[in-house]
Amino acid sequence: MTKRFGALTAVDDVTLSIAKGEFFSLLGPSGCGKTTLLRMLGGFERPDSGRIYLEGKDITDLPPNQRRVHTVFQNYALFPTMTIWDNIAFSLKLAKMPKAEIEEKVDAILEMIQMTDHAWKYPNQLSGGQKQRVAIARALVDRPQVLLLDEPLAALDLKLRQHMLIELDTIHDQVGITFMYVTHDQGEAMSLSDRIAVINRGHVEQLDGPAKIYEAPASRFVASFIGDTNFFSGEIVAVEGDYCTIQCTGFPAIRAFNDKNLAVGQRVDLSVRPEKIRVTLNPPLPEKGATINVFPSTVREIVYQGVYTKYWIQSGDLRVATLKPHSRFLLDQESITWNDKVYMWWHPDDGYMVESK
Ligand SMILES: Nc1ncnc2c1ncn2[C@@H]1O[C@H](COP(=O)(O)OP(=O)(O)OP(=O)(O)O)[C@@H](O)[C@H]1O
Ligand SMILES: [Mg+2]
Repeated sequence: MTKRFGALTAVDDVTLSIAKGEFFSLLGPSGCGKTTLLRMLGGFERPDSGRIYLEGKDITDLPPNQRRVHTVFQNYALFPTMTIWDNIAFSLKLAKMPKAEIEEKVDAILEMIQMTDHAWKYPNQLSGGQKQRVAIARALVDRPQVLLLDEPLAALDLKLRQHMLIELDTIHDQVGITFMYVTHDQGEAMSLSDRIAVINRGHVEQLDGPAKIYEAPASRFVASFIGDTNFFSGEIVAVEGDYCTIQCTGFPAIRAFNDKNLAVGQRVDLSVRPEKIRVTLNPPLPEKGATINVFPSTVREIVYQGVYTKYWIQSGDLRVATLKPHSRFLLDQESITWNDKVYMWWHPDDGYMVESK
């Protein structure tokens, strides 16, 4: 599917196949085309080329109200002059459903979102999280085949967002409807999704499960957009079995698992996540049968974050981000401070090659 706005190609030849009942996310930076893609699925925008199929039926030319695809927008869009109960009942009344059936359906969904006690309130009497729950209930009450959610939690504070994430997950489990979730927040996408499509400038950069996207990013863009990482750029100077040696500029040679089967002479970017790198005052004890990467370094920057401490370590010309979790009481651990001479080290298996030239 492709969508252009003048000279700009907002969605660039994207093909997605989403399983029934799946929790699928579109993740990408601002302006990459997530909302445009969602609007085409919802029927609010026409693709310039490509077709949309829902359970085998071509719905590309159907208006929004004739596809069983509902959208929850970021700004709730509840009717301010109607009670919560009437907001949820609205589409059912419009469809001329018998009164008893409407009551049964609305009451059931109110119970599911735990808002039964608030049924007779008006939207402006609810908190942000409650309003969002009502918006989701309203979109779900007449059982669409697909629910589209466009950054539904963006307006909520962190705690409420975390709470709503769990609720969304529960709701998805209960209703078994296909969810298509748009976000630029990698944490949200990772915690909810069966699969994630990472979008960059209108095209799909990678489509995989959350762990695969984090641990085996398909490109430099994905590696840096999902979480923090360090890149080491260099040339392969030796290949021994499954492993290779990368000569970097301004950094000592690195041993790495040759996951891309690259040959001597090829250039590569190696991504090593901060939490994979250990920092200690003494060098690590040699491991049997393994050659680990050990680099004498200097501590440049320390940021205490409660759950972990972040250290920026200088070795050669590079400043490498590392992360040390506080699994034991902080004061029991060896204290590393600014300008300390330390060792940073990681196992060759813990890097991942992201781009080769
Ligand atoms: N109606 C329109 N007319 C012209 N350009 C548009 C229109 N709608 C979107 N665009 C452009 O298309 C691109 C993609 O926009 P889109 O809203 O899909 O991004 P997004 O990924 O949802 O971003 P965000 O995370 O900020 O919501 C942007 O460059 C935007 O300016
Ligand atoms: Mg958007």
